[in-house]
Amino acid sequence: MRNVVVSGGSGAIGSAFLNELARKYPQASIHSLSRRPKASAPPGVQTLQVDYLDEDSLQAAAGQAAGKGAVDLIILAGGILHQGDITPEKSLRELSAEKLLELFSANTVAPALTAKHFLPLLPRDRRGVFAALSARVGSISDNHLGGWYSYRASKAALNMFIRNAAIEIRRRNPEAIAVGLHPGTVESGLSQPFLRNVAPDKRFSPQYSVSRMMAVVQTLTPSQSGHCFAWDGSCIDP
Ligand SMILES: NC(=O)c1ccc[n+]([C@@H]2O[C@H](COP(=O)([O-])OP(=O)(O)OC[C@H]3O[C@@H](n4cnc5c(N)ncnc54)[C@H](OP(=O)(O)O)[C@@H]3O)[C@@H](O)[C@H]2O)c1
Repeated sequence: MRNVVVSGGSGAIGSAFLNELARKYPQASIHSLSRRPKASAPPGVQTLQVDYLDEDSLQAAAGQAAGKGAVDLIILAGGILHQGDITPEKSLRELSAEKLLELFSANTVAPALTAKHFLPLLPRDRRGVFAALSARVGSISDNHLGGWYSYRASKAALNMFIRNAAIEIRRRNPEAIAVGLHPGTVESGLSQPFLRNVAPDKRFSPQYSVSRMMAVVQTLTPSQSGHCFAWDGSCIDP
């Protein structure tokens, strides 16, 4: 692992990835993408401020990362479930254009544009991994409860985007891998309002979830590219 990029670097899961990567690969160049100019990052990690919806800023950040050579691992760890007055919908009555656009912007458009600028940096002649934080609730076949319309739909769209990207990058490099990752229920600002009813043994610290997802990332093979995997390595049906 020589060159690594993590987006959503200020988040609970993003910063746990940065810590784990800095600990495991002290010699690697590690770049944290964040909307915040001074997102705290472990020593040695370079923070690159980006606006995920502004391609000039993504292109500039990609240029900085490319200065260290091909990127072996790209983790996209940004996303929202609620923000300000926006909360997950329990019913059709709660849908609004504002909610849908906000959730799709953060969970689908932002990772898609980040991938546009960073996927071409994966190695062309050896294994490289692109992994975007998705969610089990983005699985259409697994949806038996309903609710959370915008979040579910934005993650389902992200999963389709990942599948498309996997097909495209395979043509350039058969060893390249693009997947979605479900981290489990992880203690973070995103999950905090919904943790009340989650049993303590069913919720993970960001560190634990990331250690399990890193183990999954390390064992993925090219034949698994395009799919979504949970923290325990199980494949989630689309
Ligand atoms: N926590 C869970 O239980 C859980 C379960 C399933 C899936 N996930 C997924 O895991 C990922 C990380 O979640 P987390 O729990 O670490 O949440 P978090 O602590 O709230 O971090 C999310 C990060 O996303 C970025 N972000 C916030 N608003 C954004 C916006 N409007 N547009 C683009 N990026 C924005 C921010 O990072 P920067 O400003 O630094 O970019 C923020 O720190 C998300 O994709 C989430 O859907 C989490």
